[in-house]
Amino acid sequence: MSSAWKDACTGALICATLIAAIRCWMEKRKMLPLPPGPQPFPIIGNIRGIDISAPWLTYTEWGKQYGDIVYSRFFDQEFIVINSEKVAIELLEKRSHNYSDRPNLPTTPLFGFEFSTVLMAYGVHWRRQRRIFHQTFREKAALSYRPMQQRKAQRLISGILDTPEEVLNHLHIYASSVIMSATYDHETELHDDPLVEAVGKTLKLGLQELRPEVAVFMKTFRILLRLPAWVPGMSIKKKGAQSREWIRGWMNDPFQRVLTTMSSMVSDALRRIDGNDPSGEITQVIKETAASAFGAASETTASVLQIFILAMVLFPEVQVKAHALIDAVIGGSRLPTFEDRSSLQYIDAILRETLRWHPILPLSMPHASVNSDVCEGYYIPKGATVMPNVWAMTQNEDKYPNPSQFLPERFLNADGSLNEDTVDVAFGFGRRICVGRYFADASLWIAMSGLLARFMFSKQSDPNGKVVEFEPRWSSGVAIHPLPFPFTVSPRLSKVNI
Ligand code: HEM
Repeated sequence: MSSAWKDACTGALICATLIAAIRCWMEKRKMLPLPPGPQPFPIIGNIRGIDISAPWLTYTEWGKQYGDIVYSRFFDQEFIVINSEKVAIELLEKRSHNYSDRPNLPTTPLFGFEFSTVLMAYGVHWRRQRRIFHQTFREKAALSYRPMQQRKAQRLISGILDTPEEVLNHLHIYASSVIMSATYDHETELHDDPLVEAVGKTLKLGLQELRPEVAVFMKTFRILLRLPAWVPGMSIKKKGAQSREWIRGWMNDPFQRVLTTMSSMVSDALRRIDGNDPSGEITQVIKETAASAFGAASETTASVLQIFILAMVLFPEVQVKAHALIDAVIGGSRLPTFEDRSSLQYIDAILRETLRWHPILPLSMPHASVNSDVCEGYYIPKGATVMPNVWAMTQNEDKYPNPSQFLPERFLNADGSLNEDTVDVAFGFGRRICVGRYFADASLWIAMSGLLARFMFSKQSDPNGKVVEFEPRWSSGVAIHPLPFPFTVSPRLSKVNI
């Protein structure tokens, strides 16, 4: 056979295969319906009618109308909203090979977050960062940080005793200092730590604009990003430049101060390469992983603790029960330690109920489909943004009757032991599940049990002694926290040594 003939045969074969693949794709798309969803408007799709400050509420309503998988479109970006744990597990865990990517959003590089493990596309670079995280924060390794977390919780309590009017600030310092210690072995300042402030400011700026519903607008009108920052409506560019500058600071400053003689995520990772990194590539990965940890851990932990205090203020009967248990088990002369955890299961139930009652990431983090797929007879397009609606899952009345009530008993068996529901959905799904969840769980438990042992949180009274009632309000963005609310914090058990 001549080589020309061979080439022609190969070409024909490739063409036939391609045509067959395209036909198969078209058939699949034609035969299978997209998941149900609201009727889109021409061009803009379903962007109208969404509660943009709390889109999970709109998606939950859609879920009641259309079911567990809902399709919507914002301009030309396709969205799949998952409203049930069952479908989330089926797609994001069992088929995680296809759903572990992140949507490609122009706001991520604009705000300088492309280094972050949380927002990074699925691939080699992500895997390298995730490995470093795993070495430090996997279940067994995270145990080594418990003495440090206990010390920091004691410092949190002394701080609140000294300046009770600054509770929220103390929670932020606590959340930042545990992760700074684990990552860089860096001691944060008790007040006005410049790094803590820089991370707080950056996340506040970025988390608003990184919402997929907002970012998709910039993606559609990418050309707008070429306009200079002074053009009206383009302040996003100015914010982006500011965010990138702050990130450079918090990525480099603590890294340069790391002592390789001590143990921390960064120093352990640097020791493992032992100077064997001529291009500096691995060092850069370590630096970015550490900065990702700080960004992912500080606001999340502080927000959960704020929600915990809000719940204690609004549901005083829970606090009374927790106080009675702690007093009975610990006896009032010391603070709880991790060794007491198995005797204080009600505190674990409070922790789980805090994660359920108001998940701080109500839409988790968006995943993206790598290839098209079929689920429950519906066609899932390639490149769709897949949003797990954790809000709908944790407010599911069949699983959690009276979901707006704070009832830790949901997580207890009749004999008072913890049941099997660990509210894992609050930490995400599949290969992208939160790598810091064991560390976060310990930081939250030791802080919550210490706060309950030492303080009483209650509603404020006005000068006439009348209780100040209030309706909680919430921030908006990817991650949420309660907006400041009126409460008092009073010390209890003055004999406790801290
Ligand atoms: C209460 C505290 C926390 C909550 C509720 C939380 C929740 C989450 C959620 C929902 C995700 C997205 C998972 C997904 O895409 O399916 C996530 C990702 C992540 N979390 Fe956490 N997190 C917390 C604390 C932490 C801490 C303390 C660390 C670091 C030690 C951390 C590091 C990360 C990282 C690096 C990712 C990105 C994982 C990836 O994309 O591969 N988180 N977290």
